[in-house]
This record gives sequence, structure tokens and C-alpha cells, in this order.
Amino acid sequence: MERNRPIYVRSTIVSVEQKSSNQWQLTDEGKSVVDNGSHEAIVFNTIPSDGMLQGELMSSVPNAKIGFSKAMSAGWIRMDKKAEGGPRVFRKVESIQDSVKECLEKIRSLNLDGITDAQKAEFKKRKLITSVKVNSFYVTKGEGFTLDIEKLEADLTAEMMANGSWKKKTFKPYNFKALGIMPPSGHLHPLLKVRAQYRQIFLEMGFAEMPTNNFIECSFWNFDSLFQPQQHPARDAHDTFFISDPANAHDFPKDYLERVKKTHSEGGYGSQGYKYDWKIEEAQKNILRTHTTAVSARMLYKLAQQKKFTPVKYFSIDRVFRNETLDATHLAEFHQIEGVVADYGLTLGDLMGIIYEFFKKLGITQLRFKPAYNPYTEPSMEIFSFHKGLKKWVEIGNSGVFRPEMLLPMGLPEDVSVIAWGLSLERPTMIKYGIDNIRDLIGPKVNLQMVYDNPICRLDK
Ligand code: PHE
Repeated sequence: MERNRPIYVRSTIVSVEQKSSNQWQLTDEGKSVVDNGSHEAIVFNTIPSDGMLQGELMSSVPNAKIGFSKAMSAGWIRMDKKAEGGPRVFRKVESIQDSVKECLEKIRSLNLDGITDAQKAEFKKRKLITSVKVNSFYVTKGEGFTLDIEKLEADLTAEMMANGSWKKKTFKPYNFKALGIMPPSGHLHPLLKVRAQYRQIFLEMGFAEMPTNNFIECSFWNFDSLFQPQQHPARDAHDTFFISDPANAHDFPKDYLERVKKTHSEGGYGSQGYKYDWKIEEAQKNILRTHTTAVSARMLYKLAQQKKFTPVKYFSIDRVFRNETLDATHLAEFHQIEGVVADYGLTLGDLMGIIYEFFKKLGITQLRFKPAYNPYTEPSMEIFSFHKGLKKWVEIGNSGVFRPEMLLPMGLPEDVSVIAWGLSLERPTMIKYGIDNIRDLIGPKVNLQMVYDNPICRLDK
């Protein structure tokens, strides 16, 4: 194919070069020297041929002090200290040449010929001139200079190729730095990104994920199996959402239910129990689960049904529901992260060690434990970490060793202990993504752009 001219991009229309230089400019005082003469010339001119009292001179001339000393050192005037009536000043020469004024005039017209650096320094010191930076643009015609602006082609189309019109077109230069169009894709919500990181940590530590796919739970697994008494305030409608349809659950492991009932009402396994009238009606009530520990209870019961006990490490990360007053940091639903370890002879030291290990993987190393109370753990500890931003200790989780009153009715061997800890997913997510109102993270007010724009979660380890 013969080509008359190559496909060209337009060459430069104008070229612009920026230069900056320093220029001397007169100060207001320098301008007044140009208009009225230098201070020393004014002093000289003020003195009449028979001289005058120094005091009179000093009070009648502006800037007399500097003018006087400059005129003295130039040898233009002299002083008679012992004159009658006080010190008198006289002209010492017939006429003077006001070179300061002349130099400043030249500087004003940007002509520095014959002005020495010493003079410039002197004028600068006397604050008659200052140096200013001047930016200039030198604009010249470029090789492609034109007075007609032609619209540049952005695309070389099949049509142009077919009809040959491309030969006469000028094409826009290809911008290799331009960002491409974002390919359409789904976006993970920040909570899901942080959840992925937590899941990764648990998997690295050898934990297996528990099935958490039941938001609806019955009170039995959410509370009773956890040795939480039926009068406990958390079981009140103020804290728990009850389901109206179906209101009750019916399918329970019979023997286990009996053992739970007995442990609550009469005690057993070395415990006195709560000594109250345990009612199945209360345990049957369907609710939205208030914690993922309900799932842990189901899993531990299942584990206890194995012929031979095997140690396990379980985790879960999923949604729970509480009938809370809503505010900037509380919603009626949130996510819990829970870790559970069951093995022979685990101690509080094991719990603390594993919690240290877990949080170390999150980049958190300063931890403190505070004794706490949970109906299902003894001992129980709240976990605090030092927040560098807030410069204080903040609560980041809850933990404990599950009580024998919970584990033994399930059928777990007596020498098996189960340690566990839990935390919310929202709190670390809000800290990580700098969100201070939970309603900006979940719910109808969420700005979807926030979901699109937020980067993937990388914990600072
Ligand atoms: N279930 C507790 C809560 O809801 C957390 C927790 C889990 C405490 C495991 C101890 C052991 O806050």
C-alpha cells in the first residue's frame, strides 16, 4: 500500500519556555530617594552656606540620622562641636553628586550598567532595593504553527481505512498514561473484606469454620445449653428478638435436654445449679440468635456425640441480632467473630496464649485482660488492646473457659476443657476504614461509592 504521508500526530503549535530570574526592584524608600534625593543629599542641601545648629538640622529633616552619618562619611559636611549656641554643621564642599539617587534611577529602569555588587549590597542593606523573582514565559511559534484549529481524530476506524480518508486526517497522540475504563465488576463490602482477613488468620492457625447459616435459633441452644438461666435479663424482649411464626421449636435431643434441665434446676457435676423451676416452654422459644456462641454450643454437643473425643479448633464469623437502642456505634444486627478450642487439660494460660497469637496476626501486640462475667464461662476475661490513635486501652473482645455445667451435660469427657473468645467484626472494620458512624457502614444510608472505592483489607502486621 502506498502511503502519501505517515499517520501523523499534530506537531507543536506554539512552544512555551518558562524562565525565572531575579530582578532588583526599588522599595518605597528607594522610590522616594529617586523622587527627592538621597537622605545624605537632603541633609547637605538643607545646610545653608553659613551652617546651622545640628539640633535644628536633625529635627527638620526626615531620616536625618542616616543622612547625617552618610554625608559625614562622604566628606560633604563637617561639624563644629564647640560653636557658640551648640554644635553646628557646615558644608565642606561646594557641590555634591548624588550617586545613590543616580544608581537607583538606573536600577528603576532595569539598567544595571556600572553598578557594582558592593553598591547593590549597600542599597539592599539600606532597604532601598529588594530582589524579586520574576517568572517569564517565552512563547514562540512551533513547527506546526497554524491559525486554524483542526479537530484531531481520536480513533482510526474501519471506515477511514476503507475509504482512504485516514490519509488526510490528523490523529490525536496516544496517551499511554491514561487510565483505562474500569471493567464492570462486583464489589465486596468492607465487612466482607475484613471478614476474609479474619478467616485467613483462623485458617492459618488450623481452625475449621462452623456452619453459621441459621439466623433463627431457639432459646435452648442460644441460652439454656450455655447454662444461661431462664430469668437472665438478656432473655428479655428488650434484648432479644422473638420470632412469632413459628414461635417454638420442637426438635431437641431428649436426653441432653433432660440433663440441661436438671443442671439448671437441681445442679449436678459438682454444681448446685440455679435452683429454679426450668421450663421447656422458655427453651422452645424461637429467637434471632443473639450470639454465635449458640453455634459453638451446637458444635460442641455434636462433638460430644462422637464415640471417641478428638481435639478441635473451630471458628465462626457471622451475623447476630440484639434488640438494642440504635446509635452511632450500635445496630440491632452485627457480626461476631468467635474462636473455640477443645482439648484435654486446656488452661487459662492456653487461652491467653492463643489470644496473643491471634491478635499478633492482626498486628495487635499490646493486650490486657480484665476479669469479667459470662453465664457460660468461668473464668471470663474481657480483652483490651492499646489503641495508638485514641491513646487509650479499648475493649476488643470477650473470652473464657466454658463451664463444666455447660460441657458435661453435653457428654464431653471430664478432662476436656474448652476455651473460647469472641469479638465484633464491625469495630475493627470501622477502625480500619476510618468510619466513625456504623450507619455509614451498613444500612439504608450507606453510600455505595464507599463500597466501590475502598481498597482491599490489609492488616498492618
Ligand atoms: N458470646 C460472647 C458475647 O456475645 C462472647 C464470648 C464468646 C465470650 C466465647 C466468651 C467465650 O459477647
